[in-house]
Amino acid sequence: MINFIKQINFNKDAAVILLTEELLKQGCVPKGIKTQLSILGKSQQFSAELGQIFPVVIDKTLLLIVGLGKEKDLTLTQLRITLRNALLSSYLKKLQNIEILSHDNSKENISSVIEAVILGTYEWTKYLTKDKKEAKSSGKKYFIAADKNKHFDDIINICEGVNIARDLINDNADTINSQYLEKSIRSIIKNNKKFSLEVLNEKELKKKGLNLLLAVNQGSNKDAKLIIAKYKGNPKSKDYTAIIGKGITFDTGGLNLKPTGRMETMRQDMSGAASVIALINNAIKLDIKQNIIFACAIAENAIGPSAYKPGDIIKSYSGKTVEIGNTDAEGRLVLADAISYIVKNYKPQEVIDIATLTGACAVALGLDYSALVSNNDALAKRLITASKETDDRAWRLPSYPELKDSIKSKIADIKNTSNLKGAGGTITGAEFLRQFTDNTPWAHLDIANTAWVDNGSRMYFGAGATGSCIRLLTYYLKHK
Ligand code: BES
Ligand code: MN
Ligand code: ZN
Repeated sequence: MINFIKQINFNKDAAVILLTEELLKQGCVPKGIKTQLSILGKSQQFSAELGQIFPVVIDKTLLLIVGLGKEKDLTLTQLRITLRNALLSSYLKKLQNIEILSHDNSKENISSVIEAVILGTYEWTKYLTKDKKEAKSSGKKYFIAADKNKHFDDIINICEGVNIARDLINDNADTINSQYLEKSIRSIIKNNKKFSLEVLNEKELKKKGLNLLLAVNQGSNKDAKLIIAKYKGNPKSKDYTAIIGKGITFDTGGLNLKPTGRMETMRQDMSGAASVIALINNAIKLDIKQNIIFACAIAENAIGPSAYKPGDIIKSYSGKTVEIGNTDAEGRLVLADAISYIVKNYKPQEVIDIATLTGACAVALGLDYSALVSNNDALAKRLITASKETDDRAWRLPSYPELKDSIKSKIADIKNTSNLKGAGGTITGAEFLRQFTDNTPWAHLDIANTAWVDNGSRMYFGAGATGSCIRLLTYYLKHK
């Protein structure tokens, strides 16, 4: 899909040329289009202001000249958004082979160009019937004028990993069930010697007492699973980072049923598990030299006569008893068992979970920053650095000892809802998880506000799954 070329040749179907106002003024433009630009410039048709898209035809090639505004005001985010808009513009709809010339060939700029291409032009087209599908972006070839190198290959692999997760999240819940997710993991790992796999199915889950995970899945006609892929990327070290994803294949809310308007996109509730699968892919593709425990806690929060009930008290794997205040707070239940199982049996140095856990994080942070909660400042700091480096935005919310009172129960050790009448829903949800970490350094990424775009687009992501926090976590693992 992406190729690198030495220079722009104007011999493909189209060429997209990114220009800042400074470059335009100085006349620093590719030789092939000097005349065109000077004509446009004279008539003041094109000033290279941010977002301006100007089509010109030379011979058989369509040129899109794209304004980036003033160099000093340009951010990499704006670059990605602007290039994405140009690539998705109707001018290029039916054109297959597209050259791209960036205003600047620095590592950061070309990386952002790659992201605009792979992440920005991603569209979910599986169920569009043929004619419509052809008009969409799949199958296009992009030729970026830059020197090919290892870093760019990594960026390409990371973005393709993000899109693997997006494909899993976007598809029907009954297709992407626990069995399908297990198969996906097995097919990515194949015979890779660095991996060993432990899959806990219903039988093992029962025997070992992961009763929270089982309870959430009780109303489902599919099997709950805890899938653990242990990756030895650094044989010299005994340290492991555990990454655990929430994999609710569909969240109806359970008997505390979600209303119409809140349920329609709940196939996204396995975004955390899909992220973990993308990270497995990325660890292999980037040959990450770390030891990592990848885990997916998979269940379906369905309704029916056998569904678990509000008011139930369930004994968790850790031994703590949990009062079910609300069957819709199921994510923390499956994660609690997964976290304590992994902490107890694998003894990782640190645990990071990723989950579409609380609608409240949209209230706290809006839709562009995932929520980060951690019991460890050093870990949180490294994750925030990874977030900034990748533009995969996250913002830390507090975790503190006194919060434990907010999830006290009168009839069990702990409750899966808080006593704060909805106040601080994200941090009380995180607090529930923290109580299963056994004081292991832990970080929680709540992506309920960032994992999905309802309509139109957000930043450089179109509608549907975004794959939020995958780039962040890949960077974190790679640079640890
Ligand atoms: N999966 C939802 C959270 C969610 C909401 C994800 C919107 C994506 C978009 C989660 O299981 C849930 O239902 N949380 C409840 C918790 C409450 C019952 C304490 C919520 O946020 O309302
Ligand atoms: Mn729920
Ligand atoms: Zn959920």
